[in-house]
Amino acid sequence: MNNSDRSGFHIKVFLLVLSALFLGCSQDQSDNAKVQDRLDTIELQQFTSGKKLYQQRCQNCHMEDGSGLGTLIPPLKNSDYLFNNTEDAIRSIKYGLKGPIVVNGVKYNQPMPANPKLTNIEILELMIYITNAWDNPGSEISLKQVESVFN
Ligand code: HEC
Repeated sequence: MNNSDRSGFHIKVFLLVLSALFLGCSQDQSDNAKVQDRLDTIELQQFTSGKKLYQQRCQNCHMEDGSGLGTLIPPLKNSDYLFNNTEDAIRSIKYGLKGPIVVNGVKYNQPMPANPKLTNIEILELMIYITNAWDNPGSEISLKQVESVFN
């Protein structure tokens, strides 16, 4: 490679990194655009924090798009369980879940690990994220409701 080839190469790498960053951000913005009509400013911040926690602690199993994994991991996108058993869902995030459950008519029976160190606020953020992301319909969940599950 001569010098001008090399600088051309550097520019290409630079542009690639830049567009990856841009795509990453615009993905975030389109996620937010879908929910910002129904969430107020504080909830929108909680949604964003919840998304980060989800990426760190949940996404490996439940997938980035919330679709789960076959008959091993239940979906969170469009999950009847999540919306009909909200308090059980809250409890499962902190204490894990064991034993058979039925989600959208499919039976699941694999253990989900506990997250005992999550604070009530973090659990609220996760719940706000998973009930609003992926075209889920949203929920009226509050910090009081999360606290009441653990009292
Ligand atoms: C190691 C894989 C794994 C991880 C990590 C994980 N889960 Fe789960 N999750 C499962 C499995 C398996 C079940 C079904 C448990 C059963 O069969 O009793 C489940 C069930 C659930 C349910 C109830 C069923 C449904 O689909 O609505 C919710 C809600 C849930 N998980 C949310 C979360 C959240 C939020 C996180 C991150 C804090 C998380 N999970 C992390 C594997 C996982």
